[in-house]
Amino acid sequence: MCGIVGYFGPQAPKNILLSGLKKLEYRGYDSAGVAIHNAGEFKVYRAAGKLAELEEKVSKVDFDGRIGIGHTRWATHGLPTERNAHPHKVNGVSLVQNGIIENYAELKKELIANGAQFTSETDTEVVTHLIAQALADSADLMAAIQKVIPKLRGAYAILVVSENEPDTILAFKAGPPLILGQGDGEVFLASDVQAFVEQTNRVVYLDDFEIVKVKGPTFTFYDQFGVEISKPVEVVDISVATSDKKGFKHYMLKEMFEQPRAVANALNPYIDVETKSIDVSRLGLDGAATEIEALKALQGAERIYIVACGTSYYAGLYAKYLIEQLVRIPVDVDVASEFRYRDPVLDKKSFALFISQSGETADTLAALRLAKDNGLTTMSLCNTKRSTIDRESNLHLYMNSGIEVGVASTKAFLSTLAVLNTLSIYLAESRNQINADERAQLVEALLSLPSLMEGVLSYDSFFNQAAETLKNYKGFLYLGRGHNFPIAMEGALKMKELAYLHAEGYPAGEMKHGPLALVDSQMVAVVICPKDKYYDKTISNLEEAKARGGVIFSIGTGQDEELEAMSEHYLSIPESHWMLSGLLSVIPVQLLAYHVADRLGHDVDQPRNLAKSVTVE
Ligand code: AGP
Repeated sequence: MCGIVGYFGPQAPKNILLSGLKKLEYRGYDSAGVAIHNAGEFKVYRAAGKLAELEEKVSKVDFDGRIGIGHTRWATHGLPTERNAHPHKVNGVSLVQNGIIENYAELKKELIANGAQFTSETDTEVVTHLIAQALADSADLMAAIQKVIPKLRGAYAILVVSENEPDTILAFKAGPPLILGQGDGEVFLASDVQAFVEQTNRVVYLDDFEIVKVKGPTFTFYDQFGVEISKPVEVVDISVATSDKKGFKHYMLKEMFEQPRAVANALNPYIDVETKSIDVSRLGLDGAATEIEALKALQGAERIYIVACGTSYYAGLYAKYLIEQLVRIPVDVDVASEFRYRDPVLDKKSFALFISQSGETADTLAALRLAKDNGLTTMSLCNTKRSTIDRESNLHLYMNSGIEVGVASTKAFLSTLAVLNTLSIYLAESRNQINADERAQLVEALLSLPSLMEGVLSYDSFFNQAAETLKNYKGFLYLGRGHNFPIAMEGALKMKELAYLHAEGYPAGEMKHGPLALVDSQMVAVVICPKDKYYDKTISNLEEAKARGGVIFSIGTGQDEELEAMSEHYLSIPESHWMLSGLLSVIPVQLLAYHVADRLGHDVDQPRNLAKSVTVE
């Protein structure tokens, strides 16, 4: 996930762009760059590392132009080097992107076959070449990007400038956020209103497949066909925009929208982006012999126990599918309050993982102590460092998702899944279940997650509208198969704890064994149905519910006319590696519960009867 900024106006673009990038550094900080007009061309300056490196590089550079674009990067394609930093420049066209072009490899192959020379490994440079090539036989930049946009598949927000039109910035998106700020005789563009809210509070939010042409201090919006459209200029409450909620109605909504960043932050400490490897030396090891022993116990374990409560338990259930599929060792997952009292038979050659956002959940802590009393090596996965569960474990993983205020867990859960994916890949390679190339491919898929998540988050308004009707139903059945079964369970928990409505998660294959009796025209079946190995079976289960009059809310992947035709509400999320499809399905079930609860007028951040950390039994 990255941050992009653009500016036209009387102020020095260098100052505006750098201060905007500073506000966006949370979105990624492994390299940065600017392209600013000077002496008839867009001068590009880039630097690997934190923004301070770029600031140092341009500190003594003056620009006579009044227009520029900038970028701060979280690497998905290509090493975090200067060569891969944005902006990319090809034949006078300079471009920055936040997102991921899924079909960049085939586009790049075609370009190279037509003689294009590449200097980086990025998907972004591919788009730059495409626009430069299209510009060669187009009237202007607007015409050129209209030829290129239909070729792009993925989730992206892009700013592009050309030396043929030195007073113009073109901006377009599909998925990740892109906002325009209207100043007095100046125009701002950014991934997040935070980048320029101190300059202006008059903003326009671009919707997917819309284009904005900034020409000097004026701007015009177009739809994907180049037809001019009008967009409302909204006024952002600066105090709200700079408050803790950052302009969101609830902390939970803000935290859901922080999830791409939270997942990026969760992955950063464990993944070496240069070598696409998992660096477990960062497992909280301080080199103590006991910890080295603990790591050996993890690598040699013949069975893994995972113990947690609530949402964290569903993350453990998800990990079972991951680890058993990738690592091929048995995984037992327990609710902590059961584990601690059922007198479990624990094998000393096993390893126990305890998942807890707060790190203080009483049942999970008691289960940890029981495992240690039985001689097991333990590891915690917490969001709160130095919490009791963290301190009392032998090894330590962290969600790194930042403080989670909403009682209903969102970003901590997705960060947990991202770290569990990382752990599974590490264990699979350390036990020779996958080779280095397979590991690099899985890591590459994981690194694409934040951008794909931004694309799914852009469907927020879909859920807001769907919630108006869905809030009136008597109950919800959440159905999923395989690693989407735990996601179905988590979706049901969200609906229960936020909307106070009856909701149950079930393996989709269980419908005939009882739950089908619940289904009638007042029951909603939320079906997670990606195009994976379970697809046909899940469709059959969906038909069982539909045949009984159930209302179908389905979450599919890519173009799925069959699923769409069967559903009252259908949402398509990006097709992705099987490891990621479960994580991408989480955001829809979170947004569904949030909007139904909000429409019902509930206190979303502090649902009745609940607490953020259950430190008592
Ligand atoms: C999550 O939405 C719930 N608030 C709850 O189930 C929570 O996940 C559970 O209490 C476990 O908390 P922990 O992760 O802090 O241990």
